[in-house]
Amino acid sequence: MTYTVTARRWKHGWGRSMPVGDSDNWMACTDRLRLRLLRADDAAPLRSVMEPGSVEAAVAQTGDRALTPWAIVLRDGGVVGFCGFFVRPVKGTTMGYGIVPEYRGRGLATEAAAAVLDWAGRNGVDFYSSVRPPNPASVRVLEKVGMRLVDSYFDEDGRRDIYRR
Ligand SMILES: CC(C)(COP(=O)(O)OP(=O)(O)OC[C@H]1O[C@@H](n2cnc3c(N)ncnc32)[C@H](O)[C@@H]1OP(=O)(O)O)[C@@H](O)C(=O)NCCC(=O)NCCS
Repeated sequence: MTYTVTARRWKHGWGRSMPVGDSDNWMACTDRLRLRLLRADDAAPLRSVMEPGSVEAAVAQTGDRALTPWAIVLRDGGVVGFCGFFVRPVKGTTMGYGIVPEYRGRGLATEAAAAVLDWAGRNGVDFYSSVRPPNPASVRVLEKVGMRLVDSYFDEDGRRDIYRR
């Protein structure tokens, strides 16, 4: 399956501060999806896939919010998931995603991740993804967008596999 991805630089310029609460904060779009910065009212539709407080934390972040998770919005519907970035102080920038259960299995995570990869390439953002096995659906999404297993590490919760393009 191929996807048409159109992406644009943040309209106020990559690296410059962006206003909070602008409903037009979209970052990329695909055949079926629009990806935009999270808003406070995304917490309800995303409660099954995001940690409590994480939407609020992303919205409250000051300065450039491009490297935060983005909402996945159906072009003809509502918010069905998130896909975007998490900046880890020690480990660097990672890409993560989640699709609300009733919308899984339709290729939406793959379509969103492909758009985020495209955006990262255009904007020179280096990132990795990590998966705690077993998570075959997530591994498959990463493989479908061309990421490959490059490393693993162990922490207090077990193994984590690192994927890169
Ligand atoms: C991982 C997740 C985002 C996938 O979302 P999705 O929209 O269903 O993903 P897609 O439809 O784009 O692709 C899923 C792929 O995994 C495959 N898959 C799903 N369950 C699988 C399983 N148990 N074993 C093997 N493959 C599986 C699907 O068949 C599909 O591959 P295909 O297109 O080759 O058939 C979703 O399951 C989710 O939100 N999980 C909970 C959050 C999570 O784990 N996030 C990732 C953290 S690393």
